[in-house]
Amino acid sequence: MPYDNVFIFDHPLIQHKLSLMRDKNTSTKDFRELVNEVATLMVYEITKDLPLVDKVIETPVATDTFKVLADKEVTLVPILRAGLGMVEGVLKLIPTARVGHMGVYRDPETHAPIEYYCKMPADVADSIVIVLDPMFATGGSACAAIDRLKERGCSDLRMVCMVAAPEAIERMHKEHPDVPVYCAALDKCLNSTAYIVPGLGDAGDRIFGTK
Ligand code: PRP
Ligand code: URA
Repeated sequence: MPYDNVFIFDHPLIQHKLSLMRDKNTSTKDFRELVNEVATLMVYEITKDLPLVDKVIETPVATDTFKVLADKEVTLVPILRAGLGMVEGVLKLIPTARVGHMGVYRDPETHAPIEYYCKMPADVADSIVIVLDPMFATGGSACAAIDRLKERGCSDLRMVCMVAAPEAIERMHKEHPDVPVYCAALDKCLNSTAYIVPGLGDAGDRIFGTK
């Protein structure tokens, strides 16, 4: 991948769990648990540049200066519906994060993103924003979400997905080259209905058991 702000996680635990998710025989219960587990494992890398500040702390033995996270808010923005499946897993490691919701679905014919809901924390512009969606196919939904977040003044944005298609990476690079993309896998291509190949099917349906 020619872009220096695209990060693909090759950690064995992530790869193993993602392969289980790809199996069409994996149950809704297991799929939902795996989405959360992979999301938790991804947080470690996604947050490795969070700002730290010095803090004086008295241990039972001595007083010294230690590193703690700077007082900068983190906002998770799941793209409905499937992004919701990742929220709990990320909150495990960043329990103080706020959650803004972005409702976007793809038009079944054109695959263009259709926005239907947006509720963000009032001061989202000042926070580190982590956009969550397991599937990054044409990239339309994620780019639309990032458009709205930038309109609100957000400038520190990260896109986190499980499976990306090359088409989505290209689109994000064209429309939002400043936004780093973190994914567990970069798959081959899209099929004629803009599903990721080999992918894992419809993530929303598999998380919520709607098909
Ligand atoms: C899926 C998925 C992403 C989007 C990815 O949502 O969860 O949001 O498609 O495709 P894109 O990169 O081509 O935009 P879907 O439209 O199925 O909505 P749903 O989660 O509400 O079912
Ligand atoms: N949305 C999904 O849920 N899966 C895909 O492969 C593409 C879009």
